Amino acid sequence: MRLTEHPILEFQRGKKITFSFDGREIEAYEGETIAAALHAAGIRILSRTKSGRARGLFCAIGKCSSCLVTVDGIPNVKACVTLVREGMDVRSQRGPGQIDPHFRPRTAGPPLEQEAEVAIVGAGPAGLSAAKTLLEHGIRPLLFDENPHPGGQLIKQTHKFFGSRAERAGTRGVAIAQELIAEVRGEVELFSGSQVLGIYEDEGRVLAVSQGGRLLLIRARYLVVATGAEERFLLFPGNDLPGVYGAGAIQTLMNVYGIKPGERALMVGAGNVGLIVAYQLLQAGVEVVALVEAAPTIGGYHVHAAKIRRLGVPILTRHTVARALGEERVEGAVIARVDERFQPLPGTEEELSVDLICLAVGLTPSTRLSEVAGAKVAYVPELGGRVPLHDETMETTVPGLYVAGDCAGIGEASTAMLEGRIAALSALERLGRKLRDERQAAQRELGELRSGPFGERPRRGKEKLLSLMKEVALG
Ligand SMILES: Cc1cc2nc3c(=O)[nH]c(=O)nc-3n(C[C@H](O)[C@H](O)[C@H](O)COP(=O)(O)OP(=O)(O)OC[C@H]3O[C@@H](n4cnc5c(N)ncnc54)[C@H](O)[C@@H]3O)c2cc1C
Ligand code: FES
Repeated sequence: MRLTEHPILEFQRGKKITFSFDGREIEAYEGETIAAALHAAGIRILSRTKSGRARGLFCAIGKCSSCLVTVDGIPNVKACVTLVREGMDVRSQRGPGQIDPHFRPRTAGPPLEQEAEVAIVGAGPAGLSAAKTLLEHGIRPLLFDENPHPGGQLIKQTHKFFGSRAERAGTRGVAIAQELIAEVRGEVELFSGSQVLGIYEDEGRVLAVSQGGRLLLIRARYLVVATGAEERFLLFPGNDLPGVYGAGAIQTLMNVYGIKPGERALMVGAGNVGLIVAYQLLQAGVEVVALVEAAPTIGGYHVHAAKIRRLGVPILTRHTVARALGEERVEGAVIARVDERFQPLPGTEEELSVDLICLAVGLTPSTRLSEVAGAKVAYVPELGGRVPLHDETMETTVPGLYVAGDCAGIGEASTAMLEGRIAALSALERLGRKLRDERQAAQRELGELRSGPFGERPRRGKEKLLSLMKEVALG
């Protein structure tokens, strides 16, 4: 169902169009993804595994491959990041998609080649801040993002941000995204809906980019990878049913496309993301039946917890989701108390009538691209998992390859913007600009941001990384 009213957002929908899904005519609006339009039409099953298990949306940002469909004869297209077009023929798949032997693709021609001093992957706060810094110093970077709309995680954050005043705390995430985009619009060459597939060396650094069926080959001297994070999964029976979503997917459906994701929700995880998304579900008219948290205490800010409690949502600590119920999609959930080892306690189970289960159990850095480029990574739990080694200038073990934001360790938008700025200043120094003082000032600001109690964990994580980086430098 499409939302028409929302306490904060106004949904500007594009021209009405139609496309078909497995032969059924579906109404959609230009600017929506295939997955969003299908959800609005009440369709949750996008494809099936080889053995016939139903598959639906999970991450909604192109990171998990749970939404693969065949579009106009081309298999394995991600429905969550592909925009609908008038007359498009979309088909569900069973297992890995097959190309019809009679299928003749529209020829895309030879790869398009382009050169740049600096290329940036990811147009979230880190990538946009890097782009802005480069522009301030006369460099026009190429900026790639696989999602159809730039802004990264910010485009779905309706709450006023915590963090640093200097980095726009107190402003809603959606508004920060608009400000950041406006600062670079028209100046930076932005390629939306363009996934960077790989980075390799061929007489210099080359990025292979897939854009609407075309291959772009980009030669760039310096590269800032700002690919963000992906959602963690949780093990429980039925966790693959359509109707089990990552918190970010729920936000994308509700806050980007104005689509109500369900009627009755179970939220799993009482960190800030779980608490905030539970509130946003209530704002979209979804009943949040309960919020379960395996730890003995709430992890997020108590102000967010108090808000949803006031609206009647029970927050059950020392509880988890034991299983999802349903054959083809979520029709209920069983929750249970857990012991000290987070195992469900027999006899404490309770059945809830819900049609959606939202997992907000943490994020892990998206390191694939930097790893493909040869950057060394290390497992640092304080930073969310595997992280590319990097120094204070954000340079990885691959010279000229910088990382910034959540892909360099899970943090916040404020720290992502500062890291993007530092990475860009470091690349500019390599290009001969005298910017050491400016870079060091940004590094000090970042240190101050992480000096509070909530910055302690990432601060420890970054210290570990720096010492690992020094070991690598010493050989
Ligand atoms: C519910 C919630 C609430 C939050 N609240 C706050 C808050 O109040 N204050 C705060 O400071 N922070 C908050 N955050 C955190 C903040 O949103 C993130 O830390 C920040 O967005 C990270 O920025 P980023 O640029 O590193 O990554 P992202 O914002 O994730 O952007 C990464 C971009 O890279 C693109 N990308 C990835 N891979 C590729 C590829 N191969 N090719 C092309 N493009 C690619 C993605 O499409 C995406 O647009 C919140 C997060 C959530 C989920
Ligand atoms: S890749 Fe589309 S839902 Fe994850």
